Order: sequence, then structure tokens, then C-alpha cells
Amino acid sequence: MISTTLQKALNDHLNEEMFSFYLYLSMSAYLETQNMKGMAQWMRTQAEEEYGHAKKFYEFIHDRGGRVILGALPQPEAEWASPLAAFEAALAHERHITQRIGALVDAARAENDHATFAFLQWFVNEQVEEEATLEPIIRQMQDTQTSKGALYYLDRQLGKRGKE
Ligand code: FEO
Repeated sequence: MISTTLQKALNDHLNEEMFSFYLYLSMSAYLETQNMKGMAQWMRTQAEEEYGHAKKFYEFIHDRGGRVILGALPQPEAEWASPLAAFEAALAHERHITQRIGALVDAARAENDHATFAFLQWFVNEQVEEEATLEPIIRQMQDTQTSKGALYYLDRQLGKRGKE
């Protein structure tokens, strides 16, 4: 059985992952308006992954005999200054999520809740991958700022995500 404190913390994080889904879906919609179809596809796939993360929390809370309580989602931003700015905002968001996962790990350790600690290890590793995936994309986007052709090539490459 999970403690009330950890149950609340895990529910709060479920909400964070649902917001990640919502935010990336909003970024995908924005990228569509910028005619960056590949980037929009990449971000939509990212959003779907976030829904998967939220479901892992949902299932884990139930597996531990806890109660899932869904909270309201804040309205995500809808506009960014550029596709690059949207990807930079995605990286900033992932860094925020990494911090939140770290705080959850600390909370699980403080209670000697080994099952929650073990469950969170997947997310610790996932956050390393999330940041490591976005960082080179941003560097490549920065390099393409002076070349529309290079930007469209990158857009096509990113559009392959979720279709391989
Ligand atoms: Fe579920 Fe991208 O963190």
C-alpha cells in the first residue's frame, strides 16, 4: 500500500505527464501552421509518448492499491516565436520534468518505498534520453537558421519519427 503523501505526489506527476502530452500536442498544432509538417509529426509522436508516461503512473498507483485522482490541466501556450523556440521550450519543459522526477525519487527514498523507487528508475533513464534527443535537434535547427533548404531537409528527417 502506498502512503497518502506518495500517492498525492504520484497523482501530481501523472498530471505533469498529461500536461506534457497537451503541451506537445499544442506545439505540433503550431508547427503545422508554420508548414513544418515533419516537425509537427515528430511533436505529435512525442505527445503520444507522454500519454504513455501518464498511463504508467496511472497503472502503478492502482497496482499499489492507491487511488488515481485526475486534476485539471492548465491551458498550454499556443504560439511560439519560431519552430526553434518551440523546440527550445520543449527542452526547458523536459528539464523541469527531470527535476520533478528527481524530487519523486527523493520522496520515495525518504519513505523507504522500494517499489516506488524501482518504478521511478525507468523515468530517471527516460529523462536522460528525452534531453539527449532534443539537444542535437536544437543545435541542428540553430545551424539551419540561415538556410531554408537545410531547414526543410531537417523537417523531412524529423517527420520520419513514428513512421519507421
Ligand atoms: Fe514524460 Fe518527456 O517526459
